[in-house]
Amino acid sequence: MAVQISPSILSADFARLADEAARVEGVADWLHVDVMDNHFVPNLTLGLPVVEALLRATPIPVDCHLMIEDPDRWAPGYAEAGAGSVTVHAEAAKAPVRTLRAIRAAGARSGFALNPATSIEAYEDLLPEIDMLLLMTVEPGFGGQRFLDVVLPKITRTRALIEKHGGEIWLQVDGGVSAETIERCAAAGADVFVAGNAVYAADDPAQAVRDLRALASAHPRLG
Ligand code: DX5
Ligand code: ZN
Repeated sequence: MAVQISPSILSADFARLADEAARVEGVADWLHVDVMDNHFVPNLTLGLPVVEALLRATPIPVDCHLMIEDPDRWAPGYAEAGAGSVTVHAEAAKAPVRTLRAIRAAGARSGFALNPATSIEAYEDLLPEIDMLLLMTVEPGFGGQRFLDVVLPKITRTRALIEKHGGEIWLQVDGGVSAETIERCAAAGADVFVAGNAVYAADDPAQAVRDLRALASAHPRLG
């Protein structure tokens, strides 16, 4: 599985989202969009109307990370709107199997996210329903936080579970991923890397994406 980089627009200029997307066009694999509802996390960002506008404004596939209550109700709408990937949180979904299937049925990749304190082992039986596992490497809610090394053993264990089940599922890490931390994540077995500050606080976001990809790609997997 090749390394993929998903810049998070949470660290971009929300008044100029189309331009900010264009700055990473041609180098980013995905555009990561953090949907926050001020209930599941203590922050409020954007919702479906903005995602729909962004989908019209960029050719980059959109990777929607829903940090919201009741994702069972809202997630299929993001897939129907044309998001390439829609991720719901284990801690919020009340009917994850139904919701993951609804995301796939609407034509998107199904994503399942775990907070730092949520263990992967309880979800092993759900792996056939999941196209991408997202392991949070910060507590969700804000960009620019410090990477939590405490999650690294879970990345390793999750990679082992994925291999046991055939190796098809992508393993995304999100939070504090930067030139300083991406190699640790790659070594532990992650293959999709979200980066907010590391891309959009850089002078040249496209070059930051290239640099992150080179660091992750060069690193042998230790997990
Ligand atoms: C945090 C979000 C992340 C955030 C990452 O809850 O899910 O996607 O944008 O930002 P950085 O890379 O700055 O930690
Ligand atoms: Zn995110």
